[in-house]
Amino acid sequence: MIISPEIIDDIKFKNPIEDVISSYVNLKRAGSNYNGLCPFHSEKTPSFTVFPSTQSFYCFGCGAGGDAITFVMRTENLDYLSALRVLASRCGVTIPENDVLTTGKKEVGRQRILEMNKEAAKFFHNCLLDEKLGAPGRKYLMNERKLSMAVINHFGLGYAPNNFFMLHDHLKKLGYTDDEMVVGFLCGKNDRGIYDYYRNRVIFPIIDIVGNVIAFGGRVLDDSKPKYLNTSDTPAFKKSKNLFALNFAKNHCEKQLVLCEGYMDVIALHAAGIENAVATLGTAITPEQARIFSRYTKKVIISYDSDEAGQRAADKAFKLLQEVGVDVKILKMKDAKDPDEYIKKFGASSFRSVIDDSKSKFEFECEKILTKYNILNTDEKVKAGHEICIAIASYPSEIEREIYCQKMSKVLDIPKESIKRDVLSIIKRRSREAKRNEETELYRKSSGIGDRVNPSSAEFLKANKIEEAILGLMQLYPSHLKLAIEKMKTEDFVTPLCKKIFKKIKECYEKTGKFDIAFIEENFNVDEISRITKMMAERQRLATNGEDVLLELISSLSKEKEISKDEDTVDSILDAIKKKKK
Ligand code: UTP
Ligand code: MN
Repeated sequence: MIISPEIIDDIKFKNPIEDVISSYVNLKRAGSNYNGLCPFHSEKTPSFTVFPSTQSFYCFGCGAGGDAITFVMRTENLDYLSALRVLASRCGVTIPENDVLTTGKKEVGRQRILEMNKEAAKFFHNCLLDEKLGAPGRKYLMNERKLSMAVINHFGLGYAPNNFFMLHDHLKKLGYTDDEMVVGFLCGKNDRGIYDYYRNRVIFPIIDIVGNVIAFGGRVLDDSKPKYLNTSDTPAFKKSKNLFALNFAKNHCEKQLVLCEGYMDVIALHAAGIENAVATLGTAITPEQARIFSRYTKKVIISYDSDEAGQRAADKAFKLLQEVGVDVKILKMKDAKDPDEYIKKFGASSFRSVIDDSKSKFEFECEKILTKYNILNTDEKVKAGHEICIAIASYPSEIEREIYCQKMSKVLDIPKESIKRDVLSIIKRRSREAKRNEETELYRKSSGIGDRVNPSSAEFLKANKIEEAILGLMQLYPSHLKLAIEKMKTEDFVTPLCKKIFKKIKECYEKTGKFDIAFIEENFNVDEISRITKMMAERQRLATNGEDVLLELISSLSKEKEISKDEDTVDSILDAIKKKKK
């Protein structure tokens, strides 16, 4: 256990899950539980449930689940320890540092890298400020890129001197090992030895929302290649799950966020007082990053470079952001290649009006379709009309559809009613398809096919159902917990995952006399934690949870174990589903 159970208990006690989650999700009471729209997938009817009695959450739609700590881990993309720190500071508990030092290996790795990164960031920043050493960096940032000292300090920008060993020697003096520097992507190693990666580059530290320096971007001072050197994924950093400058923008994002391509664009915008700008980290936007946007804001303005590559990337970002349900607009700049250049040329207030003029999804889509086809040609007009109907059909709001049909009727010179009829038939076809997919998905789930969290569930379908029910009851009631631990051994369980869960629950019970998922969390990944919570959540929905039920489950598990593989079960469940449909 990383941190003593008493401290975890204290932190959890002072952070009731319903309070923690309410600051992210609009919760409504439903009996003894709360419901809301799931922050982890896009949905229109709430299947996200918070259970105050077990201090857990579970989404019946996407299967995400856990406790307050895993909730913060998931929403803020933090590891266990950082999430615990967020909750600790939320309620004014301090985690004693020596408590943390006695931790498991995995956490130390991350923590060490974060501390080392902080030292490296300080080193780079001090080098930039150094009269002699930092002159090339200052000349570049201040004279060429016109950044003020205030902006440099705000972002903690730095300079890596043109030397192969300075950072290494500095960190070594502070007690960091060569291995740590290599794993943390600050140094490389070859047959001649270890050397600094970042040399003669200006440095952009990447900082997460709790203030950890998680990575660096380093830009050359001239036209040499590669232009930027970015930290690869390390135990402390996943570039697909973070955004540059979110640590600042998170305080200015209620209305909208501006998504840029480059570090320099973001810095230029912040310097101009537009502090809601962020950028991805040297890659195209990922689904995880899109989800971050949906958690922080309702509207995203994509503000990519005006060249062709930038516009293609904008198209992709558009789709991903739209999928997570945020309102997306695309900004078009004239006479400048990117926001940085635009602001230098035309000033901040002009950029603000460009932001206000950014195009809606529909305008953007139509423009694209209409530039692709020549609507004076009949064949092409048919194609354009069809694509436009597909676009309109994707809007759930009837009012919106009505308005767009009207608009397009004028543009294409086709009666509105015809467009509407086509749109409706597309919607009908789509909903039939969706229903079919849902059925296939239901079949896959009920037969355990494609279960990545517990791959052997498909093989032991029935037994797995029973063992999950037992583990669910153990989480729900202390009396069941005690009883099951008395009656059962780890080997009684069938799938490796359930064996492990039972083992950890038992260890936890023996140590602390109770069960709290927070005590075993570090042994499982977030998907496994979700599964564990699911077992509890599904039992909680049922009325029959008495001790007799538990005993019955235990005895049928041992019977079921004798039949090691049961192909029949898949078929019988399928039959049951078919019958239910009729
Ligand atoms: P740009 O080439 O547009 O750079 O790449 P920029 O940010 O505008 O920089 P300046 O204005 O030329 O100084 C956009 C982003 O793509 C990533 C970086 O995150 C950069 O900010 N990139 C670009 C890399 O990661 N590596 C590269 O070699 C180039
Ligand atoms: Mn640029």
